[in-house]
Amino acid sequence: MWRIESDVQDAGAPYDRRAAVYDRLVRSRVYNRLAWSTAPSEYEAFAARALAARTGPVLEAAAGSAAATAALHRRSGRPTVLVDLSRAMLERAARRLADDGDDVPERIRLVQADVTALPFPPAGFTTVLALGLAHLFADLDELMPALRAQTAPDGELHLSSLVAETTRGRRYLDVLHRAGEVATPRTADELHAALGAPADFHVSGCMAFAVL
Ligand SMILES: C[S@@+](CC[C@H](N)C(=O)[O-])C[C@H]1O[C@@H](n2cnc3c(N)ncnc32)[C@H](O)[C@@H]1O
Repeated sequence: MWRIESDVQDAGAPYDRRAAVYDRLVRSRVYNRLAWSTAPSEYEAFAARALAARTGPVLEAAAGSAAATAALHRRSGRPTVLVDLSRAMLERAARRLADDGDDVPERIRLVQADVTALPFPPAGFTTVLALGLAHLFADLDELMPALRAQTAPDGELHLSSLVAETTRGRRYLDVLHRAGEVATPRTADELHAALGAPADFHVSGCMAFAVL
């Protein structure tokens, strides 16, 4: 069995309502190609490199349904915590981690929490991974210190974010922004500058990938 640890006193996170739709879209090659000129395999490859780069505890922040990462976490053997604000997304992540039958491995915890107020001691994770999260934050100073605080001194922080780098992607991001779904869209250059000096930074279509 699996359980979701939670101290969150809420009536539901925004992603609760759209968990099923989001889960389908994020795994769709057609959607990712048409909307963002990228591919789900790139998210998996980025996460795989993140997990292979270190040993020790892993934090996946805003893990959502773990669409790109569940199989990687199952294989990694590393102590792992998946955090998300949305219980519905974490339930999907749990089913995926359980591989539609088996239990979630005991070394993997599912925690419903806000990434800006994480209930863990600082510097406890050698890998912090946050896929598709930064574009939700208008002010990265709300997000980055919280993620950096969780990263061990010899650890790495890997994040991806949508950026306005194609005509179609910019239009779509503007629509999502007007609907309140994402923050004001950033270009890759703006994100790069806002992150300071990432050790690695590359862009594929409208998805930027950074290692700090
Ligand atoms: C665009 S989805 C990305 C999910 C997953 N990382 C992926 O790439 O498929 C954004 C996720 O961030 C979560 N989220 C948004 N704000 C959050 C916050 N402040 N704390 C924790 N999770 C948050 C949402 O519930 C949602 O699951």
